[in-house]
Amino acid sequence: MARNNPFSPTFGTSPPALAGRDEILEDLDEAYETGPMHPDFTVLFIGVRGAGKTAMLNAAEDIVREQGWLVITEQASPDGLIERLTNRAVTLLAGFAGESRRRVGSVQAAGFGVSFEPRATTEHPPDLRAALTELGDRLGEAGSGVLITIDELHAADLGEVREFGAILQHVTRREGRPVAFAGAALPYIEDDLLEGRAATFLQRCSRYDIGLLDAAATRHALKVPMDRSSAAIEAGALDRAVEASNGYAFMVQLVGFYTWKAAHDPSAGISDAEVADGIDRAERRIGRLVIAPTWNDLSNTDRRFLAAMTADTGGSSLAAIAQRMGVSTSYAHVYRRRLERAGMIATSDRNIVRFAYPTAKAWVTSKAAELSLQQPAP
Ligand SMILES: Nc1ncnc2c1ncn2[C@@H]1O[C@H](COP(=O)(O)OP(=O)(O)OP(=O)(O)O)[C@@H](O)[C@H]1O
Ligand SMILES: [Mg+2]
Repeated sequence: MARNNPFSPTFGTSPPALAGRDEILEDLDEAYETGPMHPDFTVLFIGVRGAGKTAMLNAAEDIVREQGWLVITEQASPDGLIERLTNRAVTLLAGFAGESRRRVGSVQAAGFGVSFEPRATTEHPPDLRAALTELGDRLGEAGSGVLITIDELHAADLGEVREFGAILQHVTRREGRPVAFAGAALPYIEDDLLEGRAATFLQRCSRYDIGLLDAAATRHALKVPMDRSSAAIEAGALDRAVEASNGYAFMVQLVGFYTWKAAHDPSAGISDAEVADGIDRAERRIGRLVIAPTWNDLSNTDRRFLAAMTADTGGSSLAAIAQRMGVSTSYAHVYRRRLERAGMIATSDRNIVRFAYPTAKAWVTSKAAELSLQQPAP
């Protein structure tokens, strides 16, 4: 009975129940109410793949749209970011041409996003600072604002990020226009931030870790969509689904989705066996969808580190990994940190590491053999 599956195991899709992020959402709400002087008016969401960063950008956009703001949404890619942002700002501005202030005010008062017909214009110079300045002024007069969201910031050209940062620093922070910013990035952007390679502007943004959901939030994320679809689930079965999800947002959706698919009749009650079946399918999926893309971004030494972990059942000690790789323990610590940030491993204590996902070990074992990476000593 796979019809009307309420779960959404798709990257970039807002979940049916956005669990565990209420405090962040309240802070954002307050920031947009307060204005440019609020610390969260410019904010960065940082987390591993599938942790729920894009879902947070979507949520921030929803908050401002409800307040009648405009939104500019961009994905960072290696180049063209400034040009695309400029085009979007100019297009929004073009919507004001011929619009009276009364009209802007009335749309704003109607309480949802102002949508303008894009019109070609030569009135406004194609310059991001000028366009955002004017947009900010127009919207500010109407008691409204614009939120710029940029996803995948880690993939942006640093020069362009710096340029964007300098513009926003001026338009928003210095001159107080209602041009807010929310960005999302993988944890390795922290290296750029900490080492001062990124824009000062990014360093000054509030940073939120989009981390694992706790057990209560995971339960909420699984149970609420089921309740809304009039399904029932045995208490033990729900516990098992919560445990298998490990607080990882994407896994929550996968477990929910495949459990629903496996269930004979959700409204009659989802059984423990059906959840076990769903978990099984979810674990097989996560390898292909999450572990493989992360693996592809890793260096060969990162991969050898992971291969060296596969000899252990349960956790691996860093000292043993270092020995198997033929490196010093302090060197192994550096790679532990890198892999932690990439989301491949989790540490329960400083010297013990384990794979972050249950299926990662089998996946890494087969991949390492395929690539003839250095195998751990028996
Ligand atoms: N708070 C949450 N509660 C429940 N499910 C969530 C939550 N946040 C995100 N999800 C779900 O998890 C999945 C991954 O979310 P999202 O695409 O936002 O991750 P991401 O961090 O942007 O990943 P990537 O770095 O790969 O882009 C989606 O299916 C989404 O619906
Ligand atoms: Mg994303």
